[in-house]
Amino acid sequence: MVGVMSFPRTTIGKKVIMAVTGLIWIGFVAGHMFGNLKMYLGAEHFNAYAEGLRTFGEPFLAYGQALWLVRIIIILAVVLHIWAAVTLKMRNLQARPVRYSKHRKLHADAASLSMIYGGVAILLFVLYHLAHFTWGLSAVHPDFRPTDPYHNVIVGFQNRLATGIYLIGLVALALHLYHGTWSMFQTVGLNNKSYDKLLRGLAWLVAIIIPLGFVTVPLGVILGILS
Ligand code: HEM
Repeated sequence: MVGVMSFPRTTIGKKVIMAVTGLIWIGFVAGHMFGNLKMYLGAEHFNAYAEGLRTFGEPFLAYGQALWLVRIIIILAVVLHIWAAVTLKMRNLQARPVRYSKHRKLHADAASLSMIYGGVAILLFVLYHLAHFTWGLSAVHPDFRPTDPYHNVIVGFQNRLATGIYLIGLVALALHLYHGTWSMFQTVGLNNKSYDKLLRGLAWLVAIIIPLGFVTVPLGVILGILS
């Protein structure tokens, strides 16, 4: 019998941690994507929404407290997600000093490696994105205004290199979301053959709708719909 404290050290425990923390991030990116669509309502609406994220819960909560709560949750989730991914991979390598020759196993290895590379790409993208739109580092954003995120986004995407980095980041996100959602279904035991098609379809839906929603904003700026 596995105790509560040792559960995270078991293979299934790590997979559950990956699934739960992955789901937290899916919730965050889905909410963030819907929020970004407010760009189409104009500067006043979008900036009021960004300010609303900080005043949320007042007067019970102080300014920015709700936002910080969300930040703490997503930071903890990403740290645990990476920890579980790295320790699972190390366990797999240790358990298998001689590499499998079977095609199926090689396929699984390639999938897990591409998840690791994709995860690193997303992490680097998020760091760039924070420097671009949250911290407003002058080396990354030419004209950052702390209280005008609408302006920051419009000016930000007028730079083709920045837009290219977002497009690459969103492709990496789509692939990671597809494989991650599918793995999550397997972990929670939804790997019944008769649901296979439905679950693959659901994984595709998550992997396409979220990045597609995000990409409408840089595309809107490039096409001059947002200005
Ligand atoms: C075209 C795509 C995106 C746009 C236009 C965009 C826009 C923004 C903006 C304007 C902010 C600052 C908001 C504020 O300070 O009020 C922000 C923050 C943030 N974004 Fe994005 N975002 C995009 C994609 C993503 C993706 C794909 C992720 C995650 C994988 C992400 C994660 C974050 C995080 C973690 C923050 C910091 C939130 C905070 O702590 O205040 N964003 N984004």
